[in-house]
Amino acid sequence: MLDTIYDRRSIRKYLDKPVDEKTIAEILKAGMYAPSAVNKQPWHFIVITEKTVMRDIKNLHPYAASLETAPVAIMVCGDTALEFAPNFYLTDCAAVTENILLAAKWLGLDTCWMGIYPWEKTINEFSDYFKLPDNIKPYSLIAVGYGAEKKERPERFDVSKIHVNKW
Ligand SMILES: Cc1cc2nc3c(=O)[nH]c(=O)nc-3n(C[C@H](O)[C@H](O)[C@H](O)COP(=O)(O)O)c2cc1C
Repeated sequence: MLDTIYDRRSIRKYLDKPVDEKTIAEILKAGMYAPSAVNKQPWHFIVITEKTVMRDIKNLHPYAASLETAPVAIMVCGDTALEFAPNFYLTDCAAVTENILLAAKWLGLDTCWMGIYPWEKTINEFSDYFKLPDNIKPYSLIAVGYGAEKKERPERFDVSKIHVNKW
């Protein structure tokens, strides 16, 4: 399990190899098992597999190079009608997004998290493109596929970031 965490990298080039629906469903299930404030589970997902939609959304996002070759993308959205208190959906959706990245890695896939929140222009453009109801807020976009690039595990443990009992 810890290797999954340490070896997950943002992958921006993917093989031309489809991801089967069962695997996507498993990854989404892992997302839905994320913790959420007061267990409100204020989220929805849009799974993107169509090339035309992929191309359109790539053009809506300034840093979406990974969508060039990704066979699947998952957009995580928050539901402000369900969240526990204003803006709690943001932390809930971050937990969902990370669960998805780790589940995908565990299942042999690679991913790249692309932020939509807090870019207001990007939030509005995705909302318009997918005709989202007012209470549904696009939060993150995740490229999913079999990586065509390998990245080494970096060293990130930094003892200077740890404070015990006081700053
Ligand atoms: C909130 C957030 C937003 C990000 N947005 C983008 C993005 O728009 N495009 C992209 O290619 N990568 C994006 N990333 C991925 C980061 O660049 C990446 O996680 C970071 O460089 C560390 O590399 P690693 O994921 O391989 O460990 C984002 C990551 C996070 C957590």
